[in-house]
Amino acid sequence: MIFWTFLIIIAILQITHYKINSKTPDAFKNIHTITLFNRIFMIITKQGYDKLYFSHKQYFEKDGIVKQRIRGKWYCLVTDPAIAKELLLKPDVYPKMSIEKLFPNSLFAEYLGTNVAFSNGDVWKRHRRVCNSAFKSLPLHLFAETGLKMINTLETIDNKPVEIKNFMQRYAFDVLGKVAFGFDFNSIGNPNSVYITAFDEVQKTIFNPLSLIFPIDRVPIIRQQRLKKVNKLNNIFNEIINEKYKALAAGKSQGDLLENMLNACDNQMLSDSELRYNLALFMLAGHETSAIALATTLYLLSTYKNVQEKAREEVLRILGDDLIPSADQHRSLKYLNMIIQENLRLYPPAPALIFRELTENIKIKDTVIPAGTPIELFLYGIHHSPKLWNNPEEFLPERFEKNDYADSENYSWLAFGAGTRTCLGNNFSLIEQRIALCLLLRKYEISLAPNSIHKNGLKIHTQMLLPYPLDLIFKRKD
Ligand code: HEM
Repeated sequence: MIFWTFLIIIAILQITHYKINSKTPDAFKNIHTITLFNRIFMIITKQGYDKLYFSHKQYFEKDGIVKQRIRGKWYCLVTDPAIAKELLLKPDVYPKMSIEKLFPNSLFAEYLGTNVAFSNGDVWKRHRRVCNSAFKSLPLHLFAETGLKMINTLETIDNKPVEIKNFMQRYAFDVLGKVAFGFDFNSIGNPNSVYITAFDEVQKTIFNPLSLIFPIDRVPIIRQQRLKKVNKLNNIFNEIINEKYKALAAGKSQGDLLENMLNACDNQMLSDSELRYNLALFMLAGHETSAIALATTLYLLSTYKNVQEKAREEVLRILGDDLIPSADQHRSLKYLNMIIQENLRLYPPAPALIFRELTENIKIKDTVIPAGTPIELFLYGIHHSPKLWNNPEEFLPERFEKNDYADSENYSWLAFGAGTRTCLGNNFSLIEQRIALCLLLRKYEISLAPNSIHKNGLKIHTQMLLPYPLDLIFKRKD
């Protein structure tokens, strides 16, 4: 109740502020506007970024840019690939906007602080140097271990509907724990695991898009409640760090991300608070995206049975009796890689990049966008543009027959971003996706549950392109 009253008061204040300041600067006059009402309506009715694109498609396609006004400031969403190239290749000219500037006084900003994904310049280089080596040669056996645990758990629910987003989230969470921190979250084995529950609670509150548009966190009673949730997660970070110290004292070094960060703290390359901020960032960036990618891929395989059959045939041919692909086999799974790539085009789990702040004017078509404007690359729009893709709404893995992930020279495929700020965990995610898909395809025939709400197309909500509960049936193949 308090929440909604506060929300309504803030909405009235925002609208009044908007009316008073409604004189649009000349630079923005010719750009189509997504109104604040429109955005709030979309958030409240849980519409996904797909709806945002399709309801303004004609402007995205004609101009490559639309604008919106949030907290009294103009922001632009861009789908022009030439601008994408410019922004991504010149990170010093178009740095990422700081979280504090984006969401002032929010718990989101307080919780994520200065980390590898949101910093710029020398600070970013220092953070990235600390993290990089852990992602260079990834321990396949740890991915495999979690993959096998996942498939063994599925065995116990053979032939019954499985809500796949949740199941894949637990798999990806465990992979992250094992590979990046050397910690067993055991959320596959225990659906009520305190670890994933604590993360979910924080995600639902402080990462909630309404909290980001309206400064709800400033209300003392709400702040207090939310801080309790954040503290639970902070205690988990303490537990993870303590476990790591114990393992190191017992001579069990894994050379993983957490070890790199702890060493960096000892060498004064990273402060203790920066270590916390990066742990929070990796918890956020390091599993949910992969889980969504796996859920949408499995949905596509359940819907396109011919693709599923062809992928299974490839997995059996390349892996033979091996359950888990070796490093070479990962590269040889050509068709599976095409499916993964096409899924990331259709349903990019990060449908828009972090805001960049223009340090100089930029020209889009005939409009000069002034320096200081926050700009968001809207990948979903780029990935669905009929100017860049033939039949963009069709699932056609074959369109990647000749290209691979790296070949995104025309900036039309940007699921992992591009340039020096490209996703640090792209290979990590691809490995966990391939392992899960190989294990599932070999063993199961995958189908959509009867009477699924997704039978006429995947229904998505929220900005992360999360599917609504998605029940799939895994029927053992003998
Ligand atoms: C399907 C899975 C994933 C997708 C689609 C994805 C997507 C992205 C994108 C688009 C960016 C660029 C953001 C920008 O430029 O504004 C990014 C950055 C990043 N991602 Fe991922 N990601 C995925 C998985 C992961 C995983 C598994 C990890 C870590 C374990 C990770 C860690 C990061 C980090 C640390 C950055 C910031 C890099 C930097 O700025 O130097 N991501 N990701």
